[in-house]
Amino acid sequence: MRVFVGVFLAVAVTLTANAQKIPVNYDETKIPAYTLPDPLLVKGKRISTKTAWEKEGRPAVLKMFAEEVYGINPFPPSIKIATEVRGINENALGGKAISKQVTLRFPEISPNLALHVLLYLPKNAQKVPAFVSLNFTGNHTTTKEQDIFVTENWVNAGFDKSYTNNRATEASRGIAERRWPMEAIVARGYAVATAYYGDLEPDHAEGWKTGLRSVLTPEQRDKWGALGVWAWSMSRMVDYLIQNETQIDKNKIIGVGHSRIGKATLWAGAEDPRFAIVVSNDSGEGGAALARRWIGETVEHLNTQFPHWFCANYKKYNKAVSDLPVDQHALLGLMAPRPLYVASATEDTWADPKGEFMSALEAQNVYSLYKKTGLGTEKMPLPNTSIGQTIGYHIREGKHDILIYDWEQYMNFADKHFKIK
Ligand code: GCU
Repeated sequence: MRVFVGVFLAVAVTLTANAQKIPVNYDETKIPAYTLPDPLLVKGKRISTKTAWEKEGRPAVLKMFAEEVYGINPFPPSIKIATEVRGINENALGGKAISKQVTLRFPEISPNLALHVLLYLPKNAQKVPAFVSLNFTGNHTTTKEQDIFVTENWVNAGFDKSYTNNRATEASRGIAERRWPMEAIVARGYAVATAYYGDLEPDHAEGWKTGLRSVLTPEQRDKWGALGVWAWSMSRMVDYLIQNETQIDKNKIIGVGHSRIGKATLWAGAEDPRFAIVVSNDSGEGGAALARRWIGETVEHLNTQFPHWFCANYKKYNKAVSDLPVDQHALLGLMAPRPLYVASATEDTWADPKGEFMSALEAQNVYSLYKKTGLGTEKMPLPNTSIGQTIGYHIREGKHDILIYDWEQYMNFADKHFKIK
């Protein structure tokens, strides 16, 4: 029996007893035959132009994902944000960057909600591109810089030995540093904005009670989910950057996320076209990987282990994945014509690297409407080889993680598309 489902921060995530009962397949030859729904076939009508896609196809596919998978965001697109600068360090990262810690509040929604953003800006640079992402363990874990506030919110005790009673302490400073190569990113002229993913919904079944979904009616709450809230958080970070940070080029914002945050990032990219590039790192099931491939994690595992992540409707497909009106290649198609990067890791079999690659390949049909070449090949590359044109892909040697190698590929890809020399 496979018990461990991915290692992050040196702690293995264990499946709950109920999730352990669900069979796991790792044998390609045992995958039952399946047919992928065609995102270009809408209500029996074939979409063959980008105009028809934007008018009918895309809205229909987006609606299916909202209603059946990630949930319906009940808030209007324009939300008032009150900002409070908690700290500025003009000499961050050994003098190479400016760091800012800014709290975003949403007075029209509730006085109790706060999204704490940590921003690193390269010094003396104008109109820089910026990565927007969430972190698993608190802003203070992304760096050892001593002035970064330790998160006071609920944290997952399984993510670090020092987390007691689901609270972080000084002992966790920098534990996720390897995932956040801030110096290297800033040195290449990119800004990074990150926030703790649990700020607006702590990641457990009751987390909604202290988060954004607490203000909703039970019906609205079930129609949305934690992944939707995390995607919403990323969009509010974009609002903040566009409205307040003139050093950032608002047309060069890149959404990036690892694993569950990769799933949220793809959904954020689908809902919010201001993400000029979208990057999925090891997002797996419910992210880039094709749901219909019975290999590694399944929809049933997801909904059993993490019942709060998706909308209530998604549970209908636990044992009937072929009834889903969409599959994940259609989600990737929602990024078109924007550049999209999908990355896997060789040991991350739980996330189905091949299924991630295949869905990136299938997304070509939507990119073709814009005369864009996606991956440009049907062959999965060797490890540590970045391929692709408007859709990039690599499979890094090693474990489920996001490391400097991954970031380097994302920066190379962004340099190419933003025409940065
Ligand atoms: C678990 C989960 C995955 C998820 C991962 C992560 O392994 O099953 O779906 O992507 O956690 O977020 O690291």
